[in-house]
Amino acid sequence: MLGTPMGNAVKIAVVGGGYGAKVALPVFGALEGFEPIAVWSRRAERAQELAGEAGIALGTADLDELFDCPGLEAVHVATPVTLHTEVAIAAARRGLHVLCEKPLAADLAGARRIVAAVEAAGVVGAVNYGRRLQHARERVLERVRETVGRPRMVSVSLVHTDHAEPGSRPFTWVQDAAMGGGRLQGYGVHDLDLLSEAFGEVEAVAAATEVGVAERATPDGAQQRVTAEDAYALVLRFRGGGLGLVSLVSTARHARGDLIEVHGDSGTVRLDSERRLWSGRAGEELRCEGPLKASSKDAFERVARSFWSAIREGSPPDPPLIEGLRVQALLDAVRAADAERRWVVPESVG
Ligand SMILES: NC(=O)c1ccc[n+]([C@@H]2O[C@H](COP(=O)([O-])OP(=O)(O)OC[C@H]3O[C@@H](n4cnc5c(N)ncnc54)[C@H](OP(=O)(O)O)[C@@H]3O)[C@@H](O)[C@H]2O)c1
Repeated sequence: MLGTPMGNAVKIAVVGGGYGAKVALPVFGALEGFEPIAVWSRRAERAQELAGEAGIALGTADLDELFDCPGLEAVHVATPVTLHTEVAIAAARRGLHVLCEKPLAADLAGARRIVAAVEAAGVVGAVNYGRRLQHARERVLERVRETVGRPRMVSVSLVHTDHAEPGSRPFTWVQDAAMGGGRLQGYGVHDLDLLSEAFGEVEAVAAATEVGVAERATPDGAQQRVTAEDAYALVLRFRGGGLGLVSLVSTARHARGDLIEVHGDSGTVRLDSERRLWSGRAGEELRCEGPLKASSKDAFERVARSFWSAIREGSPPDPPLIEGLRVQALLDAVRAADAERRWVVPESVG
């Protein structure tokens, strides 16, 4: 789809001044298929600053003003997780197409309400699980399909240092479990998405999370207790057989690139920490390709192009909202497994 001509620009608003402003706005602004016309931030001044930088007319902290923007056709919802449901539903009810950040909502019930509102309004709905469209991860998925057969043991291990010090990050919603924060919403959901895309349904999950750095200061200096996890370890049992291990520590002292390793009954795929991809069938030497690219902007461009095609040409969006439900059911199961210290069967999303 990269490079497909996109005429007839979709007028879009970005709701969120973080990822929305850093990644989404520049991508929409550079694609001929989109015309960003408004941006929302919680702070009016910040919204106006972002609008000025992007050269768009409206920057506002008032969602109704944003939705009333003349000619508006679509929104990208990039707020804290617990606000996705309210913003996405309000947008759909106004007949706006919705591209929602991941995870879709705080829980499966909230995610189902978004899907119902999008379906009732007859608008396009998509969820940004674009990390699996990054070149390195896309090649992992291709090689897995060609090489590994039935999974036996799959692992995804992330090691980051960005939360290691109390002062390395201010306290924001990301450290607040009640706002849907935590590293599971940041990275874990992408890895659950990758594994369920590769290996289908998960029969049961076990999980443990931890808060390693217990207090942080807000941007204005007040100390707050961190309630959202900065490390997690998950165990998955796939319905078709095989086990999965998904882990992240964001408080490590030495960072390492992501490791993905898949051992199946007919072969092996490994993405190493230098983003070299190794693969081979049983009895063969592993062959290497790469280092492969992993650009968030390129991946978001793929999601945006697909969103445009869904709006203008009626093709299915990629990733579609239903995949948001699938990962949400897994995330809910992970949360319950962690809290109740038991295996949990994810709810079926059909
Ligand atoms: N797909 C990806 O790869 C990816 C990557 C990063 C983030 N995301 C997703 O994008 C969404 C936003 O994350 P982010 O990192 O962009 O967050 P963020 O920068 O902290 O905040 C996003 C927006 O929400 C506002 N906000 C912050 N706390 C709020 C609160 N308590 N109440 C109301 N509004 C609040 C911020 O206001 P101000 O403008 O005033 O600060 C900002 O406009 C999340 O769903 C996250 O998972 C996705």
